[in-house]
Amino acid sequence: MSDTVLELQNVSRIFGEGDTQVKALDNVSLSIRRGEFVLIVGSSGSGKSTLLNMIGLLDKPTSGKVILDGKETTALNDGQVSQYRNEKLGFVFQFANLLPDLTVLENVMLPQQIQGSSEDIRQNATDLLIKVGLEDQINKRSNKISGGQAQRAAIARGLVNRPTIVLADEPTGNLDSVTAGKIVKLAKTMAKELNQTFIIVTHDRHQFPDVDRVITIKDGKAFSGEETTMEITA
Ligand SMILES: Nc1ncnc2c1ncn2[C@@H]1O[C@H](COP(=O)(O)OP(=O)(O)OP(=O)(O)O)[C@@H](O)[C@H]1O
Ligand SMILES: [Mg+2]
Repeated sequence: MSDTVLELQNVSRIFGEGDTQVKALDNVSLSIRRGEFVLIVGSSGSGKSTLLNMIGLLDKPTSGKVILDGKETTALNDGQVSQYRNEKLGFVFQFANLLPDLTVLENVMLPQQIQGSSEDIRQNATDLLIKVGLEDQINKRSNKISGGQAQRAAIARGLVNRPTIVLADEPTGNLDSVTAGKIVKLAKTMAKELNQTFIIVTHDRHQFPDVDRVITIKDGKAFSGEETTMEITA
């Protein structure tokens, strides 16, 4: 299996036409290895979410290629994209987005049910909920748990398909700093234990003191490193 799990080749994304045209991503090339814990930072409107949407196969580039786990995805049709996304990616959002009428366990079982997995779905979900420290909350309805607990459950749900990459857009944005710190620690522990690649967009650089790589987005261009030391990627 290749060590490279994601490659972007000259990816640009242009929104709108004519005078109102916005080049949200401008010729971005980068590659990410298995197990890397990557932070994407940059000011508001710089193109972070657009980039994450490309990696998450939620949007297609205007030009360039997105190669996920060895497959060039830009040529896939919508049905193939959905299937590949479900198989290869896990998502964690700013708000946990758990389904309120389901239990914590049922929420975490969902991705594997959607995938039609033949594994023991209940066991997989239970194992992960124990790993994220929610063993006492498994059978609670998900609208009866705290914000931090909900985000733990969301991480378990993001991991349950054993995705190639977990993508997170502002996963600590809705949490107080103590809870956010715990969630970051948890994500890092999971990344190490499972050799799991994480790509995280954040405004909270200081919440992630110890990461493998920082990518800074500025005016739609991607740079390796922080604003002060950054160099163009690839
Ligand atoms: N669907 C869209 N249609 C038109 N313009 C868009 C669209 N999505 C994003 N843009 C523009 O592309 C640029 C990058 O937006 P993006 O959402 O990627 O920024 P961001 O870095 O995620 O910002 P924030 O930190 O505020 O979330 C912005 O100028 C934005 O206005
Ligand atoms: Mg954004």
